[in-house]
Amino acid sequence: MKDSNFLKENNARHLWHPMGHPGDLQVHAPKIISSAEGATITDIDGHRTVDAVGGLWCVNLGYSAEPVKQAIAGQLAKLPYYSAFAGSTNEAAIELSFELREWFGPDGMARAFFTSGGSDSVETALRLARQYHKIRGAHGRTKFLSLKKGYHGTHFGGASVNGNNRFRINYEPLLPGCFHIPAPYPYRNPFGEEDPARLAQLIAAAMEDEIAFQGAETIAAFIMEPVLGAGGVIVPHESFMPLMREICDRHGILMIADEVITGFGRTGDWSGSRHWGVKPDLMTTAKAITSGYFPFGATLISEKVAEVFETGGITEATISHGYTYSAHPVGAAAALACLAETKRLDLKTNAAARGTQLFEGVTRLKEKHAIVGDVRGGHGLMTALELVADPATRTPADAATVARVHQAAYEAGAMVRIGGQNILMSPPLTVTAEEIDTVLAALDAGLAAVS
Ligand SMILES: Cc1ncc(COP(=O)(O)O)c(C=O)c1O
Repeated sequence: MKDSNFLKENNARHLWHPMGHPGDLQVHAPKIISSAEGATITDIDGHRTVDAVGGLWCVNLGYSAEPVKQAIAGQLAKLPYYSAFAGSTNEAAIELSFELREWFGPDGMARAFFTSGGSDSVETALRLARQYHKIRGAHGRTKFLSLKKGYHGTHFGGASVNGNNRFRINYEPLLPGCFHIPAPYPYRNPFGEEDPARLAQLIAAAMEDEIAFQGAETIAAFIMEPVLGAGGVIVPHESFMPLMREICDRHGILMIADEVITGFGRTGDWSGSRHWGVKPDLMTTAKAITSGYFPFGATLISEKVAEVFETGGITEATISHGYTYSAHPVGAAAALACLAETKRLDLKTNAAARGTQLFEGVTRLKEKHAIVGDVRGGHGLMTALELVADPATRTPADAATVARVHQAAYEAGAMVRIGGQNILMSPPLTVTAEEIDTVLAALDAGLAAVS
């Protein structure tokens, strides 16, 4: 590896980063993270911080999961790659499909389709949803419904059901036939309704209205995150997802739960759907399936959907979709080791306890710092603070202020993430109580820097 002067001089010069302005990043260079252990990351200058981002909502096991590293090395030595396009497969992928069935059986999932990440998993689910209806002869069911503020990755399908303007506007026109209903976001919504239960009812009515307007027979699927992550950790009322499930059922619309963040324990349950007592028709997973150690994902398919495909005709039920790296043996081996570690450490239980600690801590910070307009979380290790210029008008804080909070928190010992005017946190599920205290103290320092 070149020396640190070389790396700093060339930082963001020849590399365009996702979700950033390529010119701005040449001026405000990204932090160079050099190493990590446990839940702590170390930058190129040797500054150590607790990683309250968990990589990117994904490093659930922390950075020192030896069994996963060994599984990757072992699989690389044995079989680094082979195609899974129909006609060949590999041992790790077969075993993983069995494991996932056990894991997500309580959610009604029966089959897995492997991908290279969350956007691929979403794309796969959207495509399979359309194909499901075509196999059944309902050729008109092609549209998708989703939530404003939802995040479903950046492929054209995912971006089209995405509910955040900034991920859409520069790439329009997107897929036709995608329609959005209001987010279960009590702090800001078109109804001016702050009560989460009443808001859930209002959104259910808006959903019914949209279905009536579009015609149920034109809608393939509704996609939602059980807890909306990148949109600002928006936690719906407990009645919300069951209400959506009931509406989908009544209108023959498939429900896709986007569990790319919420799958594998982050909410305090093994899936976000289980957290709310809902069985979706399709589930999308990625991130924590390999704890971010290898790019990998899985779209999971319920018995109901699987039966239609498996008994369908050869022309309409053949899956003419997939990726070179679908069922990658190294990814599958990493996932198998990850699932075993996740289960062994019972990470969902720590996620629930540490999530409550973090949420109670940021609730106290809200009392102390007027810039904190709203805090959200309390359902596992997904927590957000929404920063405002004026609490009375709820005007969002400007980007420079949010960046100052971020930098001051970093200097004080915690890496947090910016998402618009939100500070987002999703530490590894292995995080300790002391590390959560460090994050809270660093955030306090960050907020004090702009107060
Ligand atoms: C809910 C959800 N869906 C899909 C994606 C896209 O995943 P990826 O970035 O791996 O393509 C993300 C990424 O953060 C996500 O949070």
